[in-house]
Amino acid sequence: MENKGKKTALITGASRGIGYEIAKLAAQNGYNLAIVSRSLENLVSVKKKIEREYGVNVEPIAGDLSYTETAERIFDRLSGADMWVDLLVNNAGRGQMGEFIETDWEVDREMMRLNMDAVVYLTDLFLPQMIERGQGKILNVSSLAAFAPGPLMALYYATKAFVQNFSEGLAEEVADKGATVTALSPGPVDTGFEIKGVKPSENGNKSVRVSPELAAKVGYNGVMSGKRVVVPGGAVSVAPQLARLLPRRTVSSFISWLNNRLLYRDGA
Ligand SMILES: NC(=O)c1ccc[n+]([C@@H]2O[C@H](COP(=O)([O-])OP(=O)(O)OC[C@H]3O[C@@H](n4cnc5c(N)ncnc54)[C@H](OP(=O)(O)O)[C@@H]3O)[C@@H](O)[C@H]2O)c1
Repeated sequence: MENKGKKTALITGASRGIGYEIAKLAAQNGYNLAIVSRSLENLVSVKKKIEREYGVNVEPIAGDLSYTETAERIFDRLSGADMWVDLLVNNAGRGQMGEFIETDWEVDREMMRLNMDAVVYLTDLFLPQMIERGQGKILNVSSLAAFAPGPLMALYYATKAFVQNFSEGLAEEVADKGATVTALSPGPVDTGFEIKGVKPSENGNKSVRVSPELAAKVGYNGVMSGKRVVVPGGAVSVAPQLARLLPRRTVSSFISWLNNRLLYRDGA
């Protein structure tokens, strides 16, 4: 396996959905890949497909990113293999819907660890080498949820607001150090994204859903051109501005109405 001199992309949640599509785009553009998800079986199947199709090297790393040691293990494994990460894609995430008082603390905590801690820790581990080498790109997968309060998904929306603000703040901080940080903030995407508590097959209004291919393309092009925030899909691209202009209470009650329609209730 020859890794020296080649660009490497580390992509979390690359076994399916948006992460898988980003992995294909990076491979198409000559990146060797390190791909992460919980299921080794799925990663190995992605490795075979991508290596066959694009002729790059793919390193599968199975692990649950809601545990701190997974990020450390990824860092040690890549450093040991002389793979310097040029592109870090923090994509793995999960959602949970329901009234906060009803949701399970263990699930809440796992979501916070995956959606926020893992993003911060992987950035903390890999950004210093990027700065040292005067080059590096980070793509954090946020969400349109980042721009509004999210009744019935209050915690998920809050985790994405965290990712969004962290990304934009960090982007400014490293602007003169050779690294860039991009937030990809999609509305509903047609993936199997698991939002605990959402009615099966209901993830947002079908008319505003975009394909994972489009979300990935917008994110990949955005990070390659050093943009700070990218929102795929014309229909929802005005939502962040709208959320800023409207009174916060109005936005809250609109989201409450929207999320209420998606919430799964026994017998509903
Ligand atoms: N789909 C949407 O509507 C939408 C909209 C806005 C933002 N987003 C964001 O986009 C990102 C990707 O979503 P997606 O729709 O592509 O989801 P997806 O199709 O469900 O894929 C999620 C990926 O993350 C991995 N993953 C899940 N939990 C993990 C964990 N604890 N540790 C390591 N890997 C884990 C999954 O593999 P394993 O299950 O094998 O671990 C899978 O590869 C998420 O951050 C999500 O919040 C999605």
